[in-house]
Amino acid sequence: MTEADKAYAKIFQPFAKAEHSTTLVIAQLGQSLDGRIATSSGESKYINGKAALAHLHRLRAHVDAVLVGAGTLVADDPQLTVRLCEGRNPARVVVDPTGRGIPPGKWLANDGAVRLAFSAGGQAPAECDELIRIEAGETQAFEPCQILQALAARGFHRVLVEGGSRVVSSFLDADALDRLHVLVAPMIIGSGRMGLELAPILHLSDARRPAVTTFVFDDGDVLFDCDLRSGSQTGGRA
Ligand SMILES: NC(=O)c1ccc[n+]([C@@H]2O[C@H](COP(=O)([O-])OP(=O)(O)OC[C@H]3O[C@@H](n4cnc5c(N)ncnc54)[C@H](OP(=O)(O)O)[C@@H]3O)[C@@H](O)[C@H]2O)c1
Repeated sequence: MTEADKAYAKIFQPFAKAEHSTTLVIAQLGQSLDGRIATSSGESKYINGKAALAHLHRLRAHVDAVLVGAGTLVADDPQLTVRLCEGRNPARVVVDPTGRGIPPGKWLANDGAVRLAFSAGGQAPAECDELIRIEAGETQAFEPCQILQALAARGFHRVLVEGGSRVVSSFLDADALDRLHVLVAPMIIGSGRMGLELAPILHLSDARRPAVTTFVFDDGDVLFDCDLRSGSQTGGRA
């Protein structure tokens, strides 16, 4: 194993160590050089190359649950399963923060993985194993910690927040993420959906500066592994 391989393997160590009762939350964003995760028409397949896609599947294989927003289901109809590496399919979780209803799609495949929905008032398809009500928060569309507590109560402690922009941004704004993986493709889209849209700050001194390790994949994509519990930023999960 090369030094680079050893460093890469270290990324997954916190997941192996996570004790049964400890929640560990990671988010990922696959984006262009200019920070876009989709075109203005919502197309995001595929900004990143094959190596980054395999990395995403490796992340899925290391978590108990993978979570996406309803907007991502509508745009991408993802399967959210582990196919490009060895590993068990995690539970699939969809969040509908505005109560428009949980969309149907491939995420409801009957493959033995648990399928959960969180909605602020909307309905879920019959195949969904459980529909959990969420309340809209005062300053954001939903409270990520409420979702994490409900998942932990069901035995899902290691969680991958896979997108889209609103859901990942809400988790980051709420300080509910331990790690963030930004996968940057050497591509300029120039318009479209930004990866992160956070609450505004006035001063650069208020910006998050997490401890970051970078990895360059063979096809040119770069992974920024951001440890949000290290570096110079404040806060922590409530
Ligand atoms: N490159 C990547 O890594 C990556 C990963 C995942 C997703 N994506 C892209 O991110 C985009 C989605 O992100 P997002 O921020 O828009 O949404 P999202 O975070 O996936 O989902 C949350 C939003 O979806 C909307 N929504 C809720 N229920 C809906 C329904 N039934 N039908 C349609 N929309 C509904 C809501 O917006 P309203 O306020 O409009 O109700 C809600 O705020 C897509 O273009 C997807 O391709 C990229």
